[in-house]
Amino acid sequence: MKVLVFISFIAFSSFAQNTYNLIPLPKELTPATGQFIIKKSTSIGYAHADFAPVAALLAQHIQQASSFPMAAKTGNGSTIQFTQNNSLGNEAYSLEVTSKKISIQAKTGKGAFYALQTLLQLMPAQIYAGTAIAGPIAIPNVNIQDEPRFSYRGLMLDVGRYFYSVESVKRFIDLMAVYKMNTFHWHLTEDQGWRIEIKKYPLLTSISSVRKESMLGHYKDQKYDGKPHGGFYTQEQVKDIVAYAAKKYIEVIPEIEMPGHSTAVLAAYPQFGANPDKILQVKTKWGVAEDVLFPREETFTFLEDVLTEVMALFPGQYIHIGGDECPKVQWKESRFCQDLIKKLGLKDEHELQSYFIRRIDKFVTSKGKKLLGWDEILEGGLSPNAMVMSWRGTKGGVEAAKQNHDVVMSPNSYFYLDYYQADPKTEPIAIGGNLPLSKCYSFEPNLPELSAEEAKHVVGIQANVWTEYISNINYAEYMTYPRALALSEVSWSTKESKNYTDFKKRLTGHLPAMDAMKINYSKAFLSQP
Ligand code: ACM
Repeated sequence: MKVLVFISFIAFSSFAQNTYNLIPLPKELTPATGQFIIKKSTSIGYAHADFAPVAALLAQHIQQASSFPMAAKTGNGSTIQFTQNNSLGNEAYSLEVTSKKISIQAKTGKGAFYALQTLLQLMPAQIYAGTAIAGPIAIPNVNIQDEPRFSYRGLMLDVGRYFYSVESVKRFIDLMAVYKMNTFHWHLTEDQGWRIEIKKYPLLTSISSVRKESMLGHYKDQKYDGKPHGGFYTQEQVKDIVAYAAKKYIEVIPEIEMPGHSTAVLAAYPQFGANPDKILQVKTKWGVAEDVLFPREETFTFLEDVLTEVMALFPGQYIHIGGDECPKVQWKESRFCQDLIKKLGLKDEHELQSYFIRRIDKFVTSKGKKLLGWDEILEGGLSPNAMVMSWRGTKGGVEAAKQNHDVVMSPNSYFYLDYYQADPKTEPIAIGGNLPLSKCYSFEPNLPELSAEEAKHVVGIQANVWTEYISNINYAEYMTYPRALALSEVSWSTKESKNYTDFKKRLTGHLPAMDAMKINYSKAFLSQP
């Protein structure tokens, strides 16, 4: 009897087919039989200082999950060993698990961090709970060579419609890192709220950050809750979040909207809009507002001052300046704007918008940064250095790529995570739309309209969490997960490996890990084709 039990244990542990519920799917994965079991004698070593933080994180996870004291140490020869391999790309890694040893190779700390994420996904799901695991921690043997398909793998969070606390933003960043996303687009300003401290313009936080009340139910209901809503991040908090994200190899891109979606600015500083005497409130209604910034010299001074403070807080390359949904009604009716159009020899208000963005681009570029804007920045002529974020489908992205500009594809029809993911009758209120997980997953960033050369300008993809109907992080997680995992896989994994059935199977196997992370994910996909 004893022998039989022993044999069946061997059969289970050494010869059974391993399964690997990894998301995103690695570029190359060679399955193997057998497992590496974490023991008291397991050691963690790193041969290069860049890997120290990642090795320490791994030690922390293992110590919490096992009862073994675990500390990472410099040098070679550990049973879990990080080694530098300069032939790999900046985000690449290799991970080999055998029954005796785990070898991780990367060129950079970032590659090693992604190896860690894969290794954690190979462990029992409870590794994510941060508490002791009953029984051995077994890791299936495997050989993985991995690197991403795209360099830009992003999620956007709109904190303008609802303010999200520092802790909530960090939670959003934490989960991105687990799935190897590397860009957090922080939508910081809106008609309904300005969320970042600008020392030179204190009214932006005392006035522009608070609205009188918020809409209840759908837009068509025109009901309000009667409660003020507000909040902003101090510059110290912004720095803290940027540093926090950097530890997870995530770049934070701030978005400061202009010339539209700026009613909150005008509520405090009406002189930058149509009429310095106009009394405006921070908007309480969702939608697109006709009150916009005017291309006055004072406005440019204001925006340059704001961007100067913003750029000092965000060490990354890109500054997003919005540029979307700027109605031209007030510019059409303005003597000042019409005279300016004539003076500058422009054709119309679209070219005036282009003039606006070009001026800002020139400023941003002069400070060594790169301008990013929604696809409306194509209208009236694209600014020379701009990168385009294509949201109204992929048309703008295609057009920009053909003009040799870099592009992030973020089409609303595939990646607007504020859209319903299942039958609205069974779902909490959302803005509308119909975007099941399978649709997100089906997006192919390299479109047939693009030549191989043009397609190189598509640097990646992004999913957006607009929050008109999403007032807290718990609900934001429900809308974001698991659809952000489709974004993760489409942006990371190879085009050839794309297979929704296989993705869904891996995702289903990965759900216990999401439970251990306490992610409030939607289960709608389980009953969808
Ligand atoms: C957008 O959805 N207005 C970018």
